[in-house]
Amino acid sequence: MSRYQRMMSITLQCQRFHNAAGCLKSKTGTEHRWLERHLKDPFVKAAKQHNYRCRSAFKLLEIDDKHKVLRPGFSVIDCGAAPGAWSQVAVQRVNALGTDPNVPVGFVLGVDLLHISPLKGAVFLSNADITDPVTLKKIQELLPTEKADVILSDMAPNATGIRELDHQKLINLCFSLLDMSKSILRPSGTILCKFWDGREARLLQNRLLEHFPYVRTIKPQSSRKDSAEVYYLAKLYHDGVKCQKH
Ligand SMILES: C[S@@+](CC[C@H](N)C(=O)[O-])C[C@H]1O[C@@H](n2cnc3c(N)ncnc32)[C@H](O)[C@@H]1O
Repeated sequence: MSRYQRMMSITLQCQRFHNAAGCLKSKTGTEHRWLERHLKDPFVKAAKQHNYRCRSAFKLLEIDDKHKVLRPGFSVIDCGAAPGAWSQVAVQRVNALGTDPNVPVGFVLGVDLLHISPLKGAVFLSNADITDPVTLKKIQELLPTEKADVILSDMAPNATGIRELDHQKLINLCFSLLDMSKSILRPSGTILCKFWDGREARLLQNRLLEHFPYVRTIKPQSSRKDSAEVYYLAKLYHDGVKCQKH
């Protein structure tokens, strides 16, 4: 069980207590601090109110409101989709349920190493590693269009706590996305990917710039200030290295 899963399981246990203090008593110092912060977090409360599966929904809502990543009719691949909050947002924004009859109907495919509970309007590939060629093949089979308009990635590997190593692992996942783009992202498509800031961030940015003329660094308000998490938004995909201007 990852640290995130462990903490979420503690949160669920605590939600069963009427008195959170009672639940906090039995936890270690780190768990106690994490849980206290989690229970006070306004985005956690808002996620509950709006029926989002977790607070991360607000990061995508915020990015999409500002940068217009998702449009009705778009095909979206959501990498690292569990528990499914980004997919919930994507289903609404691309009109995957056909709720609005006046705009095109989109498609959302979520992929994760973990199980993802079913969600109306989304197709999920659970227990699937995005870096596995078998997963790529399945994605291609499931996409209703030849290629997707948008690849979202909020993926996060199991953190070891060694900052440099965790950074490297996530950067490598982002590189795999870039490699996959050749087969599954349409020309002029978009990638939104999370990374943990560090030494190799510039390298990833440069690799993105080889295929996307527009690359922006985004730190949403809803992303915790003390988290190293940042996003690259890359638009207007082209398959090939464009000549650099001298
Ligand atoms: C922070 S969570 C994503 C939360 C999600 N965006 C949401 O809103 O519900 C990160 C996820 O990335 C997944 N992940 C990490 N490495 C992966 C890989 N190689 N392939 C697929 N999923 C991966 C983890 O299993 C985890 O569920």
